[in-house]
Amino acid sequence: MSAPRNPVAIVTGGARGIGAAVAAQLARDGHAVAVLDLDEQVAADTAAGIVAAGGRAIAVRCDVADEAAVTAATDRVVAELGAPTVLVNNAGVGPAADLTEMTVEQWDHMLGINLRGHFLVTRAVVGHLVAAGWGRIVNISSISALGDEGRSHYSSAKAGLLGFTKSLALELGRHGVTVNAIAPGFIVSDMTAASARRLGRSFEEHQRLAAASIPVGRAGRPEDIAHTASYLVSPEAGFVTGQVIYVAGGPVD
Ligand code: NAI
Repeated sequence: MSAPRNPVAIVTGGARGIGAAVAAQLARDGHAVAVLDLDEQVAADTAAGIVAAGGRAIAVRCDVADEAAVTAATDRVVAELGAPTVLVNNAGVGPAADLTEMTVEQWDHMLGINLRGHFLVTRAVVGHLVAAGWGRIVNISSISALGDEGRSHYSSAKAGLLGFTKSLALELGRHGVTVNAIAPGFIVSDMTAASARRLGRSFEEHQRLAAASIPVGRAGRPEDIAHTASYLVSPEAGFVTGQVIYVAGGPVD
């Protein structure tokens, strides 16, 4: 089957940062976009910005770790925009904790959002992609999947997403659905601003230090990830599936 003429995309964690840039780019590419986020107000502002720029978007409050909320949110997307054929699993949290001090609650919270949440949203949506005989799923992992001192729970979730991605690529290819992962390096966002605060640095200093160890000599921007996602969800990317694309300003593995 071929790509739908008026595609609907869901971007989780789409209110700010990488997700907001992805949502805006997919709208420019011609998708009606559902901005799913825990933060309803910022999601509404992001959706309004897309509409003001001539796109189609709605904001939907959703905690991706809550099964019932995910079902309700995806039902709302279908009712208001139509059946989705594109899903970008981007919602995530990234607090640090050394293993010796990590509580079970911290571990479960991290895995609940950054891995289980992606499973819940994908499971809720995938039937629409299969029914259309065409679909695109992009999972936002991280270079932290390769190891991240002081964030073993985050690293484990992000590495788990790579197995999730490859397994779904095997399961869904025959239905015309591709599944890929993007593994960003250091990207300027609220998440990396929080890391700077934790380390007692100004965000400018934090970015300067990060850039010094990045081969292309700069920190990443949310748009760097948005452009990669734009390609992966395009009709032209139909022979690319089960891949991990490191968007990190240099080779990492
Ligand atoms: P951010 O903190 O700026 O934005 C994350 C968004 O996810 C927020 O709008 C937040 O409200 C939402 N969110 C958090 N928990 C949620 C939940 N339970 N349900 C629904 N929405 C929820 O973060 P950023 O930097 O834009 O990160 C986006 C993704 O990219 C995350 O998965 C992150 O792990 C990943 N990433 C970020 C990198 C960076 O350097 N900023 C590097 C590698 C990966």
